[in-house]
Amino acid sequence: MNILIVDDNPTNVMLLKHMIARLDECTPICFTDAAKGLAWCEEEKPDLLLVDYMMPDIDGVDFIRRFRKLSHCTDIPVIMITAEESKEVRYLALQAGANDFLNKPIDKTEFIARTNNMIRLRKNQFQLANRAEWLAKGIKRATEELLQREREALLLLSKAAEYRDPETGAHLNRMSHYSRLIARNLGFGEAEQEIMLEASPMHDVGKVGTPDDILLKKGRLTPEEFEVMKQHAICGYNILKQGSSRLMQVAAEIAATHHEKFNGTGYPLGLAGEDIPLRGRIVAVADVFDALTSERPYKKGWPVEQALEFLENERGKHFDPQCIDAFLLSLDEVLEIMNRFQEQ
Ligand SMILES: [Fe+2]
Ligand SMILES: [Fe+2]
Repeated sequence: MNILIVDDNPTNVMLLKHMIARLDECTPICFTDAAKGLAWCEEEKPDLLLVDYMMPDIDGVDFIRRFRKLSHCTDIPVIMITAEESKEVRYLALQAGANDFLNKPIDKTEFIARTNNMIRLRKNQFQLANRAEWLAKGIKRATEELLQREREALLLLSKAAEYRDPETGAHLNRMSHYSRLIARNLGFGEAEQEIMLEASPMHDVGKVGTPDDILLKKGRLTPEEFEVMKQHAICGYNILKQGSSRLMQVAAEIAATHHEKFNGTGYPLGLAGEDIPLRGRIVAVADVFDALTSERPYKKGWPVEQALEFLENERGKHFDPQCIDAFLLSLDEVLEIMNRFQEQ
């Protein structure tokens, strides 16, 4: 405990210093010049301030007022030492932030009792701060655990869907990274980009509800079969919307809207333009670009240039122009993602 003593009278300072030095774990730090004492406080942090009232230039009340203005000294206990001062002076000192008073001449027993009270107050402050920090750490850890568990659940869900879906894990990796990249270039914040990355792989989870003969059909789907296929968007939405977290809600929105087209010719609702949630418009670009450029059992992957040409041709038709622009803005990163997540 650093006990700061500020008194213009050297004899008083000596007296206080001796009494403090005899208390447990207390180190006196003394100033006979109030301005120097304040300057010390700007750099250091005492645990208790003992300040005389009657001092030239800066009196005790003024000292306390300035002391309290220092952001790290707002809650440090303060005792003002007074002689015969009026009630007004004491009121002013209390207003300025004094916690207690000691009368001159100083009575040793009273001095020890009052000083010890203030030291106890200071120690309680430390304990409270430690406890608050300990609690905050605990909450942070618990929150991280919850988030981790949620990510895990989502991953398992998409893995389960993968068993039925001809689309691969590499596809999910690439399209989710493309989605985050577009979101970033559109100005999404760090946390929202992360949500985009984690929610977008769920876009086809609804395919767990699509019958095998349609899902795994080699040839072209008949119009009736295509109607059934379309239901995966709503099915995914119905599964994911039951999650209460924001991540699940975003995933549900993406599942519902990733097949909508900017000109209103998509499904399931035929929404157009900005009526389609932005995340759905983003995933549409990411998902289609990757579907085009990747190899499937029934087709070769398109060269990048050809896929980009397709995106350009579909600007304002299938795709939101601003999402296309955001995608093209970081083409080098697109290629890097494509290389990083190759088919197994
Ligand atoms: Fe889909
Ligand atoms: Fe996909």
